[in-house]
Amino acid sequence: MSNNMKDAPKGHQRLERNVTLMALATLVTVAIGGVVQIAPLFYLDNTIEKVEGMRPYTPLEQAGRDIYIREGCYTCHSQMIRPFRDEVERYGPYSLAAESMYDHPFQWGSKRTGPDLARVGGRYSDEWHVQHLKDPQSVVPESIMPQYGFLAENTLKVPDPAGVLTALSRVGVPYSDRDIEMAKTDLASQGDPFADPADLEERYPKAQIRDFDGDPTRLTEMDALVAYLQMLGTLVDVNSAAAQQELAEETGR
Ligand code: HEC
Repeated sequence: MSNNMKDAPKGHQRLERNVTLMALATLVTVAIGGVVQIAPLFYLDNTIEKVEGMRPYTPLEQAGRDIYIREGCYTCHSQMIRPFRDEVERYGPYSLAAESMYDHPFQWGSKRTGPDLARVGGRYSDEWHVQHLKDPQSVVPESIMPQYGFLAENTLKVPDPAGVLTALSRVGVPYSDRDIEMAKTDLASQGDPFADPADLEERYPKAQIRDFDGDPTRLTEMDALVAYLQMLGTLVDVNSAAAQQELAEETGR
């Protein structure tokens, strides 16, 4: 070693003693790793495998989702069940990538002051949700969730339902021309038990059409939010063969 030190630096030694050369070599090495990982993504049409049942959200569900984001529900709730036994036992089958493919932005989250909501749809009645959102402590006394009673007072206002769908279709959500044309009608009729929903259910399979907030005379923000919550995790039949295979592939098991 001491002999070597006297010699002029060569090979790796030269590299290590020259900061510029070292930085350049590091960059090249890291760039190769980056290219190997990133380049193939440009040649794939889709990195998420479609799963049967997943569809774009109805205008009412989408409006509920916008309220969910506006009220910051995501600051306490995640929407991604991780593939661990404790999570699956508590929340149900773990989330598939395809189940959030129409979320812009996605709501996976990592903050869980409250439970994960990815599969909360159908777990409780509409009445439970309304009561819980108005006054969480009346159903779960130790709850620290804030009260959202005002949502039942606020008339739902979506100034341009077709515009919302158009914007989403520009980022890849496959709304049809008919969906966009019908957006305003769909928004109103999904939450109105007296309206004619036309072909809403054909275009949005499993859409739940009813009054959600207990007041069928008007459409409120509560209607939209509960419609959204009741849809979460209900679109994909996670017990179907295709979904099971997808589950297996995603975890490599
Ligand atoms: C400050 C944190 C916080 C915020 C903000 C919050 N929650 Fe919660 N949420 C909780 C906690 C804690 C629980 C568990 C106790 C309970 O059920 O109230 C909960 C429970 C729930 C449940 C029941 C879940 C289950 O599986 O039992 C739903 C549904 C829910 N929240 C929806 C919402 C919605 C919608 C919003 C936004 C309008 C929201 N939460 C905002 C903390 C929060």
